Amino acid sequence: MYSLANKRVLLGVSGGIAAYKSAEVVRRLQDLGATVRVVMTAAATDFITPLTLQALSGNPVHTKLLDTKAEAAMGHIELAKWADVILIAPISANFMAKLASGEASDLLSTLCLASRSLLAVAPAMNQGMWKNPSTQKNIGYLRSRGIHIFGPAEGSQACGDTGPGRMIEPKDIAELTADLFETGSLAGIKVVITAGPTREAIDPVRYISNNSSGKMGYALAEAASEAGAETILISGPVNLKPPSRAKTVYVTSAREMHIAALEEAVDCQLFIACAAVADYRPVNQSEQKIKKSKDEITINLIKNPDIVADIAALTNRPFTVGFAAETPQTKDCLEIYAREKLERKNLDLVIANDVSGRTMGFDSDDNAVLVVETSSSEAIPKTSKTILSRQLIAKIAQMLKITNKTL
Ligand code: C5P
Repeated sequence: MYSLANKRVLLGVSGGIAAYKSAEVVRRLQDLGATVRVVMTAAATDFITPLTLQALSGNPVHTKLLDTKAEAAMGHIELAKWADVILIAPISANFMAKLASGEASDLLSTLCLASRSLLAVAPAMNQGMWKNPSTQKNIGYLRSRGIHIFGPAEGSQACGDTGPGRMIEPKDIAELTADLFETGSLAGIKVVITAGPTREAIDPVRYISNNSSGKMGYALAEAASEAGAETILISGPVNLKPPSRAKTVYVTSAREMHIAALEEAVDCQLFIACAAVADYRPVNQSEQKIKKSKDEITINLIKNPDIVADIAALTNRPFTVGFAAETPQTKDCLEIYAREKLERKNLDLVIANDVSGRTMGFDSDDNAVLVVETSSSEAIPKTSKTILSRQLIAKIAQMLKITNKTL
């Protein structure tokens, strides 16, 4: 199954008769779940109106590099960063020459130069222009730079010629675009992820909390979205930008996180408990700030609900993944602790990490984990939380498929 769920496609349209087909390219990309923004060259607007592509894509169409109004809404560098893939369909012989020479003479060529995302092009031109050694040299060069070339097809052309140079069909362009991405492995799946610490109020200004930065949970939410999932991130208080493709629900205390998790988990197929939930909260929360008149005070604590265990106990439970941040005395202890958690909380998977050092785990950008399931375990060596999250999501997607809980 092809999927572009949660993927952002910047569709570039250059000037040629095949530009009329770009309307259908927008549609076919959307069919696969993509969000599409369109950039047109000046010549393309002679073949199809920006209004048509604006109506179909649901987003303003960008045509000029120096357009103050468009720049105020989404500047060209921002647009270049927004895209997961820039797809130019159709790409004319002229625009291919521009790309090959690294020009930045209009909006689309500037975007291609500024962007670090994937770049794919679907050529469309007269067969003579396609066969011309200059065009072939440009194609060879673009290919050598890792630019994906879709087509062209052979057949009768608008000019009356027959030969290579027809743009391939919009459906094929959309499917080849989907093929550029490794995953889509969680397309159609709703994922709920908890992240960050919780704060348990003592009085209006004081609380009990922990060192969790939320980075791991946020990276997992990004990776789950990348893999095509509808992602809900339930976050405790952190200093991180919300992931752009997930819905973020902010909570403060463990009890608020518990309520939000049970509500969101009703129709989810995957639950990942990454939050460092405070195990205890003060029995009473003073309504007034506690005065420091006494030398000693006692705060009685009561256990918080175990969110992940409650989710795993639901009748129609999702595939449930827990985390275990431990300070084990020996390497073997980490697995023993994780396995104990797996069984006690009735989880499908526990991702354990050693937080004794300061370079990994809490508040760090890197992590190394031990992935523990009922019958086996696998160590994933130290890497960035972004890469680790992608590896974990790929593994979970594989397990979901095998257990057939969802797909
Ligand atoms: O019991 P412990 O805190 O060691 O278990 C850690 C795992 O349980 C993590 O996945 C954490 O998100 C989850 N947890 C929870 N609710 C709690 C405590 C932990 O969901 N009250």
